[in-house]
Amino acid sequence: KPVVLSGCQPSGELTIGNYLGALRQWVNMQDDHNCYYSIVDLHAITVRQDPKALHKACLDGLALYLACGVDPEKSTIFVQSHVPAHSQLSWILNCYTQMGELNRMTQYKDKSQKSEANMNSGLFTYPVLMAADILLYNANRVPVGDDQKQHLELARDVATRFNNLYGDIFTIPDPYIPEHGARVMSLQEPTKKMSKSDANPKNFIGLLEDPKKITKKIKSAKTDSDEQARIYFDIEEKPGVSNLLSLLSCATGESIEALVPQYEDKMYGHLKGDVAEAVVGMLTPIQQRYHEYREDAAFLNKVMAQGAEKASERADKIVAQVYDAVGFIKRP
Ligand code: AQP
Repeated sequence: KPVVLSGCQPSGELTIGNYLGALRQWVNMQDDHNCYYSIVDLHAITVRQDPKALHKACLDGLALYLACGVDPEKSTIFVQSHVPAHSQLSWILNCYTQMGELNRMTQYKDKSQKSEANMNSGLFTYPVLMAADILLYNANRVPVGDDQKQHLELARDVATRFNNLYGDIFTIPDPYIPEHGARVMSLQEPTKKMSKSDANPKNFIGLLEDPKKITKKIKSAKTDSDEQARIYFDIEEKPGVSNLLSLLSCATGESIEALVPQYEDKMYGHLKGDVAEAVVGMLTPIQQRYHEYREDAAFLNKVMAQGAEKASERADKIVAQVYDAVGFIKRP
């Protein structure tokens, strides 16, 4: 089976963007792939996190993975900091990555503009840690959105460089664009993607939000000032309306082509009402399951322990090979 690796940062409450762009795809891949799904807490601290909030977000994230249908019997679910191999390989790979390569990463440029007060070197070397995440499991399929393609390219370059020096240690990962993957945009600024750490909570919908709040946010989503208020899909001209159509399509399973004619003589308000209802309908069962898992600390612990063990077993082997390749003495 092809090996898949993916993760979400516990840098806030997971959003419908994380669900539709990642978690829902993860669930679909479980049967015919060998999947490793991580809660990437090491990545999350590249932006300053409140320790209590981070701790809670990790447990919430785990319960949400399970509630969304990620199955610990089929997939390896683990917390990144529980597997020291990620930090170990990341350091080594740092020494095989050029400053110039990292300087070209657009996400770093964007994030560093946003968080000028905390320009730490972890933010700069974030893609190297991501390369380690992937290479530790010989992952050959990495589900990535547009924004992560450049990071995956870097992982490929560093792995190829390392292999050329020391022999075929790493599997070169390929990007994997899931068939029904969606890019969910911000509700108030629909030309940028929805992000869980957005300073304006009106821009995102958290998976655990109250249905009334979700409805309110969708009803006040930005559309446009087209006087005839026509409803059609055009990302350039109508980013807000297109985002709502895309959300409706994801939540109902109906294609956008099938949806558009249904709104021919309708107002934006109709569309928003339907989107709100569909999103609430999609999240209600997830929220119910989430609460059951979240209250079962013993089960969450068991999943984390089992996941860390399975992940370490595989990752430690690669670290041992890498240590040996660069010339480190084996610990007697
Ligand atoms: N808006 C989105 N639409 C589709 N997919 C998305 N993903 C994130 N936002 C959207 C996918 O979710 C996975 C996990 O992402 P992440 O938590 O590692 O970090 P991110 O991509 O930076 O997500 P956020 O929500 O924007 O987090 P913050 O605000 O902390 O930076 C990835 O597969 C991503 O593609």
